[in-house]
Amino acid sequence: MRYNKAYFQEALDFIRTKTDMVPEIGLILGSGLGTLVTQLENTITIAYQEIPGFLQTTNPSHKGELIFGFLNGKKVVCMSGRFHSYEGFSFSELVIPVRLLKLLGIQILMTTNAAGAVNESYRPGDVMIIRDHLFFGIESPMRGFNEEDFGSRFYDVSTLYTPELREKAKEVARDFPLTFHEGNYFFMQGPHFETPAEIRAIRILGGDTVGMSTVTETLTAGHCGLKVLSFSVCTNMAAGILEQPLSDEEVNEVGRNISSHLAAYMYELVGQL
Ligand code: 6GU
Repeated sequence: MRYNKAYFQEALDFIRTKTDMVPEIGLILGSGLGTLVTQLENTITIAYQEIPGFLQTTNPSHKGELIFGFLNGKKVVCMSGRFHSYEGFSFSELVIPVRLLKLLGIQILMTTNAAGAVNESYRPGDVMIIRDHLFFGIESPMRGFNEEDFGSRFYDVSTLYTPELREKAKEVARDFPLTFHEGNYFFMQGPHFETPAEIRAIRILGGDTVGMSTVTETLTAGHCGLKVLSFSVCTNMAAGILEQPLSDEEVNEVGRNISSHLAAYMYELVGQL
């Protein structure tokens, strides 16, 4: 399947029957980090099921909604519910969400993820501004026919996570009661968490957090010229650091605890972008 402009025409026509808003910023929020959505004003909500050619969420507890609205004065569109490789989507299909947001008009993609802390100086609840990522999979979302509608065959990825946006993120961070870092996100496909040996290797390779999302979105955004700002929320220490197994519950609980502080921070940040 080719995910070119023509592919998205039906989806765009449908969405434009619901709203003519041209959002400046696209938001994709990680699991348990959705509080920001409740702060959107004048919202228009569209279920993923209704959007022709869009992907469908596989986790029944996750909403699948595209929400347009205003956040601290900015026009935004938020994906409530994201898509991961571990759900069975191919890397090629994973271009769909970000390409649709691009065609809706966004210039900046802002994302969060729940991640394990690999850097031993990080603590659960800490937030990491993603400076760069490591992705050693052999597959790329851009593998196959290059869609010139979006970008060129070969493209630079040396500043995928936009430096000016990271500077802004650091500036705004000073006024919030959260611990911030800046570091490298390491992608693992999951759905299992990592082994202790893998985490030791990831640390040696330069990873500070590890998680199962974000990179396909960022690579797609970089290809079509979007600016990107992305955050890891450390929900737990990665495997082998503490003498305890990792639990999905722990991941969700820390996410929930920090979600409102993070939402307040992102609200302010969005207003200043
Ligand atoms: Cl430890 N690993 C991965 N891959 N994803 C996570 C995580 C760890 N903790 C939260 N999400």
